Formats: sequence, C-alpha cells, structure tokens
Amino acid sequence: MTSNSEKESKKVTIKICLGSSCHLKGAYEMTRRLKEMFEDDPNVVLAGSLCMNNCANGVILEIDGKTVSKVTLDNLEEVVKKKIRDTQKRLVDGNETE
Ligand code: FES
Repeated sequence: MTSNSEKESKKVTIKICLGSSCHLKGAYEMTRRLKEMFEDDPNVVLAGSLCMNNCANGVILEIDGKTVSKVTLDNLEEVVKKKIRDTQKRLVDGNETE
C-alpha cells in the first residue's frame, strides 16, 4: 500500500518563468499550453515564478528543481514530456541522482 506522503512525493512540479524577458519570448502562451497538457494529471503541479535570473537563455522552466533553458513554443511539449518522464522514473526507482 502506498501512503499519501509517498504519492505526494511522486508529483512533479513545473515552474515557468513569468519575468518580462521570458514573457516576451512566449511564456504566457506556454503557460496556457502547459495547463491544457496537464489539467487532468494530478501528478503534475504547475507554478509561475518571478525572473529566474537567466534571461538570455529563456524561456526558463524548472522541473523538479532542475533548470531547463531555451524552451520555445516549438519544443515545449517534447522537452517537458521528456523531463517529466525522466523525473517520474527517477522518483519511482528511488534514485535521486542523475
Ligand atoms: S525573465 Fe525569465 S529568466 Fe529572467
């Protein structure tokens, strides 16, 4: 049996930078797409962030504490799904190191 805290620990958090530079590079539209992608997935939590101090490489996402840079509207879905798969596999395997 899996406890609530174990289930809770398998959630993946995606933070998207909503600072002005990332906003100009499409962060608002990315946020809309991420909401659509994960609205029915209880294991993914979406959050916004102030500038993540990496504007030159934006749009910046943070997936379970790991920075993902140069995200575009074209690569968003591919990048996010791959990172989430990797993160969930790591969490399920219990291997916190990469
Ligand atoms: S605005 Fe996104 S890193 Fe600065």
